[in-house]
This record gives sequence, structure tokens and C-alpha cells, in this order.
Amino acid sequence: MVLKGYPLPEQLTTQSGAALQVRPLAASDIADVMALEARVQTHPWRRSSYEDCLNGRHHCWTVHNEGRLVGFVVVAWAGGDGELLNIAVAPEKQRHGVGKALLELALEQIKPFASMLFLEVRVSNTQAITFYEREQFFEVGHRPNYYPANGGREDALILARQLS
Ligand SMILES: CC(C)(COP(=O)(O)OP(=O)(O)OC[C@H]1O[C@@H](n2cnc3c(N)ncnc32)[C@H](O)[C@@H]1OP(=O)(O)O)[C@@H](O)C(=O)NCCC(=O)NCCS
Repeated sequence: MVLKGYPLPEQLTTQSGAALQVRPLAASDIADVMALEARVQTHPWRRSSYEDCLNGRHHCWTVHNEGRLVGFVVVAWAGGDGELLNIAVAPEKQRHGVGKALLELALEQIKPFASMLFLEVRVSNTQAITFYEREQFFEVGHRPNYYPANGGREDALILARQLS
């Protein structure tokens, strides 16, 4: 799907001044994206979830720095609500503003289509919860036993942020 009226910026700059090249996920990026996610998530996505970004069901944008993939974000929207489905930054690039830049990119792209952005996060993922709270997300729900976890299941928090 082409996002009319909201062209994708070719480049973002983090607060610390690093240049990030932005592009929509291509089939040739999927192996790198999966490898990055496997470094930061205990239960990374299957390939088919990324392939949904190629057929327009989801939307994924990657950011590269000096030719290397350093992060990506995946969103979807329907009926006026947006959903942040995934976001990840390479471990060695975390805490340099890449996550914030990815989130801001996603917010800009979603704004024409949604007034709220929702997401689910593992209750144990204090790093991401701190990140989202800092970015004006608030808790709107709790799903017991939502995620598979090592040795059992884990609850999800549902967070939301107003877009308009
Ligand atoms: C969540 C994630 C995307 C954040 O990316 P990032 O590039 O590190 O985030 P930023 O550098 O933009 O951080 C912005 C702010 O969020 C907060 N924050 C981010 N990571 C944090 C951490 N590990 N501990 C505490 N606060 C943190 C801080 O307030 C930070 O600002 P500061 O560095 O000036 O203090 C990254 O930690 C990640 O990839 N995590 C693994 C994947 C994941 O859990 N994704 C979420 C799935 S729901």
C-alpha cells in the first residue's frame, strides 16, 4: 500500500546526531531483520510474519547506519486504530535514540489512518515498558498468560498512546 500524502523520509537523525537510512522492508532484508530480532527477543517472529509486511497486511520500515541494519519497526492499522506490532534495535545501538526515531517514524506514518496506537508488551520487559512510558504510552489493559515463555506463559500489558 502506498501511504498517500506522507512520504517516507529517506533519512532520520537521532538526538545524538547519528544518520539513519530509512526504507520499507524488502524480501532481501528479512534474513537480517530476523537475525537482529533473535539477538534481542526470547521468542522472535517467524518468517511468515515478516512476509506479511511485503503484501501490505503489515508495514515494516528498517533503519541502517553505515550500511548495517540497526533497527526496524512494524505497524498495522484498521478502523481508526493503529497497532505497534514489533520494534527492535541492535543491542550495540540501544540507548542512542534509534528506538525513539523508529517510533516517531511509525507515528508519522500512522497518523493519517489512526487516532490511537496500541501495543502489547511482556510484563517482564521492563526495558521496553520504560521506553514506552517515556514516549507517552499508558496502560489500558492486561492479558493473562498471553505470551509463550520459557517454562510456561507470561502476561501482556496493553499500552496505548493518543495520536490526535
Ligand atoms: C525497546 C527498544 C526498541 C528501545 O530502543 P532504544 O534505541 O534503546 O531506545 P532509545 O535509545 O530511543 O531510548 C529512549 C528512552 O527510553 C528509555 N529506555 C530505553 N531503553 C531503556 C533501558 N534498557 N532501561 C531503561 N530505560 C530505557 C530511556 O528513557 C531512553 O532515554 P535515555 O537513553 O535518554 O535515558 C530496545 O530496547 C529494544 O530493541 N529492545 C528489545 C526488543 C523489544 O523488547 N521490543 C519491544 C517489544 S514490545
